Amino acid sequence: MNKNINDIKKQIIIALDVRNQQEAKKILESLPEARIFKVGLELFTAEGPSVLKLVKSYGREVFLDLKLHDIPNTVAGAVKSAVRHGVFMLTLHTSGGLEMMKKAIEAAKEMAEKEGRPLPLLLGVTVLTSLKDSDLQEIGFGSDSKSQVLRLAKLAFEAGIEGLVCSPQEIEELRAELGPRIKIVTPGIRPTWAEAQDQKRIMTPGQAIQKGADFLVIGRPITQAALPEQAFARVVEELQAAIKPA
Ligand code: C5P
Repeated sequence: MNKNINDIKKQIIIALDVRNQQEAKKILESLPEARIFKVGLELFTAEGPSVLKLVKSYGREVFLDLKLHDIPNTVAGAVKSAVRHGVFMLTLHTSGGLEMMKKAIEAAKEMAEKEGRPLPLLLGVTVLTSLKDSDLQEIGFGSDSKSQVLRLAKLAFEAGIEGLVCSPQEIEELRAELGPRIKIVTPGIRPTWAEAQDQKRIMTPGQAIQKGADFLVIGRPITQAALPEQAFARVVEELQAAIKPA
């Protein structure tokens, strides 16, 4: 596998886990080489769509991580709005069901065509890693988290979802079950030189790519490094080494 450096940079998603636009701006400016930035619930709830415009004004792509979960019609509407904002990728909960996922895909296609916008990559979230098996039983999901992840991932695939968010430990199994086309996005990444912080089941960037991830979500090891640009460059180097032909 041979990839050029720009393709590798597009595999790294920087988590904008900050409270407001000023802080987001600082991160955007500290990482001129990073291509994709993840806007989650905290920042989006604080600032609304103007933060999406901010990211785009720097010529970067948006990963809108709102983990949509509602009736099909409502999720379809939210997806249409996201397409109008020109987001590059967005998340929805696969436990919203087959119909919800299908409607979301249809809505994305319809709006992208109507507005002449790029079609975003719709990513399915399976089981939140914060839930233990006992939590799953408590909410009436009988199975253990491993089988529940697989079950929901297959359902997402059936609906036509093109990508999944999963923990690094799930990459291999999902890749084996769903084949090479499904895009796999994984957080829980820690380079050897960074602290684990609250992340428990971590992998290095190189390991996650070798296991089959397409995109890595990385926050604090880069955004809170003394020299963020240098930290980003180190991750790029690590990925280059990991995907070099043997
Ligand atoms: O700073 P750090 O690299 O831990 O950030 C990881 C990002 O990925 C955060 O935005 C976090 O919410 C997200 N995430 C995660 N684990 C999951 C799902 C999402 O760390 N299971």
